[in-house]
Amino acid sequence: MATILHRPVCDLLGCTYPIVQAGMGGVARSELVVAVTKAGGFGFLGMVREPTDLIRAEVAALRSRGIERFGVNLIPAATERVLLDAQVLTCIEVGVPVVSLFWDVPLSLVRRLRDAGIVVACQTGSLAEARAMEDAGAQILIAQGIEAGGHVRGDLPLNDLLPGIVEQTEVPVLAAGGLTNGADLATMLSLGAQGGVFGTALIATREAFAHDYHKQRLVDADGEDTILTDAFHINWPRGAKVRVLANSVTRGKRGDPFSTPRTIIGDEAGRPIYLFSTDSPLRSMTGDFEAMALYAGKGVARVSGIASATERVCTIAAEAMSLLDAGVPSQGAPIELASPACCAHEMDDRYMGFAGCDTLLPALNELLEAERAGARVMLRTASEAPEALKSLVMAIHRDKVRWCGVLTRAVHRLEGVPSRKTGALHEQAMTIADIPERLAFLNRGQGWVARKLKMLLPTIRDETIHADLAVMLASHESDISLVTAELPVRPYADIQDSAPGG
Ligand SMILES: Cc1cc2nc3c(=O)[nH]c(=O)nc-3n(C[C@H](O)[C@H](O)[C@H](O)COP(=O)(O)O)c2cc1C
Repeated sequence: MATILHRPVCDLLGCTYPIVQAGMGGVARSELVVAVTKAGGFGFLGMVREPTDLIRAEVAALRSRGIERFGVNLIPAATERVLLDAQVLTCIEVGVPVVSLFWDVPLSLVRRLRDAGIVVACQTGSLAEARAMEDAGAQILIAQGIEAGGHVRGDLPLNDLLPGIVEQTEVPVLAAGGLTNGADLATMLSLGAQGGVFGTALIATREAFAHDYHKQRLVDADGEDTILTDAFHINWPRGAKVRVLANSVTRGKRGDPFSTPRTIIGDEAGRPIYLFSTDSPLRSMTGDFEAMALYAGKGVARVSGIASATERVCTIAAEAMSLLDAGVPSQGAPIELASPACCAHEMDDRYMGFAGCDTLLPALNELLEAERAGARVMLRTASEAPEALKSLVMAIHRDKVRWCGVLTRAVHRLEGVPSRKTGALHEQAMTIADIPERLAFLNRGQGWVARKLKMLLPTIRDETIHADLAVMLASHESDISLVTAELPVRPYADIQDSAPGG
């Protein structure tokens, strides 16, 4: 049985929900991974620069708690060669199921891990790097937007980076950067991601190994408090940027990060913690926490309390599921993906006037591409719209996200592969700077979708898909009226039959 959140990446990782806890160095230990896994998510141990004894101990701790599917995160560029080799060997020896890699990833390492039977996930901030990683054998790509907490690899907002990587690669793509809740996850799924990676939101949990000081600062912060800086640099390649909460270091009150002599500001079991190092405050540390790297993603404003990680993952999943479901009463229960909706009845179907999968799947995917285009347009428009139109734009965005989820489920139900493309309407709509005019253009697209649905519905035999698409049609008709009421647009009945912008 699988929920509407289920994506192929869940099978690859071995989790119920595509909710992935980032492999955060220092912060993500076995206690956090256990809590996330128990809720149905997937967790990475953050093992950058950690000794192999700790990797072994943490893996053993997970297994002693019955966790068999988990990952280990390593960062080659921030780890001395001898230690990295030993870490990799340890992962292979103890049979770590999944390894995630980040920052200047040596492609030969991807191959080596794959050859050892390990699932490899690579995090990236650019399409070019994503392609190279896929070519080297990465089975999962993590698209990291500039909103991310911790080290930030690229320079694109997630909403601009993600769709390109989804469209131009073939492996599952996860989205990372600024995600904190179920609405964020649902939005990422609508853009074609197979799941979301959560960092900051899972630091502010009881099980994270971060110091309480860091957790509380996250709870108290708002999104404007984060800053990208290269001031925290010791242990990392020069110029690597991190997103942190602004503090005395980023305000320049602790001197020049690159010329000030090394100053000890903390201690972890006898290990000195230096000013301007990449260490963040951990449970095991003492010192001047205010001056350490207080990693935080841009979503920090929506982190309002410290919860258990199990509870946080369950809440994210529940929120996302409710946002993606069409709300047809009989569909509250989880669905089975390999259901009788598959195309076994194809000959009968055609005889009775129903569409076969060869007709239905392309039609559903065409609708998915159009809805994804609408979701992207509305997401961008929400940040640009005048106050008076904001709530309308956000409501339509929510609907588009929902229909992307519903259409994806329909395609899976028919054992098809959901399209990874975004419809042409997106690019065309984004050339229209005037927001009311852009909404009017989108309304034409909504009209096109409504007419497609009207034609398609009588040909659909599967009751679940039929019920979902009937609700989708009603929602489109209502949204069209809402927008028409707000704007001087041509009425719905006037719209021509051609695909919007197609
Ligand atoms: C405290 C912290 C430590 C991190 N450490 C690592 C790390 O060791 N390896 C890694 O691949 N990514 C690391 N990241 C980045 C995450 O993989 C991910 O991109 C980021 O957390 C997503 O953004 P969010 O924090 O807004 O959710 C870290 C992030 C944070 C917040």
